[in-house]
Amino acid sequence: MTTIENDLRDAIRTIPDYPKPGIMFRDITTLLGNARAFRRTVDELVQPWAGSKVDKVAGIEARGFILGGAVAHQVSAGFVPIRKKGKLPHTTVRVAYSLEYGIDEMEMHEDAVTKGERVVLVDDLIATGGTAEGAVKLLKQMGADIVAACFIVDLPELGGAEKIRKLGVPVRTLVSFD
Ligand code: PRP
Ligand code: ADE
Repeated sequence: MTTIENDLRDAIRTIPDYPKPGIMFRDITTLLGNARAFRRTVDELVQPWAGSKVDKVAGIEARGFILGGAVAHQVSAGFVPIRKKGKLPHTTVRVAYSLEYGIDEMEMHEDAVTKGERVVLVDDLIATGGTAEGAVKLLKQMGADIVAACFIVDLPELGGAEKIRKLGVPVRTLVSFD
């Protein structure tokens, strides 16, 4: 049977041993380059909020910018970039977040979201959830009402989606890879 999950999974390319041995890299550029799959992805991601108000979509650098911009347009929301440190020109709020090895910092503009605004967080993929957790912390610090965090790809063995649900944020993912 053809399901949307299978169709989208087929549109994602897997590169073994990238960027290092043992990693199966789930490459969404093939999905983005496929007009039908890209359209279906955006339609499916926003489906739970069709008709409800979303003020802002926050996208995480870099792949979350591509998807987040399309999602923001689809739900007629503004777009907020969450960037790696040192890239944003105005006053920022900053948070440390954990990567597979070590920590880094991400930022957003201090005036990008105002208290009580309904925000959807978007990224291409959730693995350990360290990146999304950092973004959730920033948005909560700004007083955002986080409607959901959504991702095309979930790597459930790494536990990221569960980590974000435990923070009280609903998580939506479209395709899981073991
Ligand atoms: C990837 C991906 C997510 C993050 C997920 O981004 O786009 O943002 O890793 O991993 P986690 O759940 O374990 O935190 P990456 O840091 O590779 O940056 P990029 O989008 O700039 O390539
Ligand atoms: N980010 C973290 N793990 C990843 C993976 N396996 N594929 C693509 N992006 C990732």
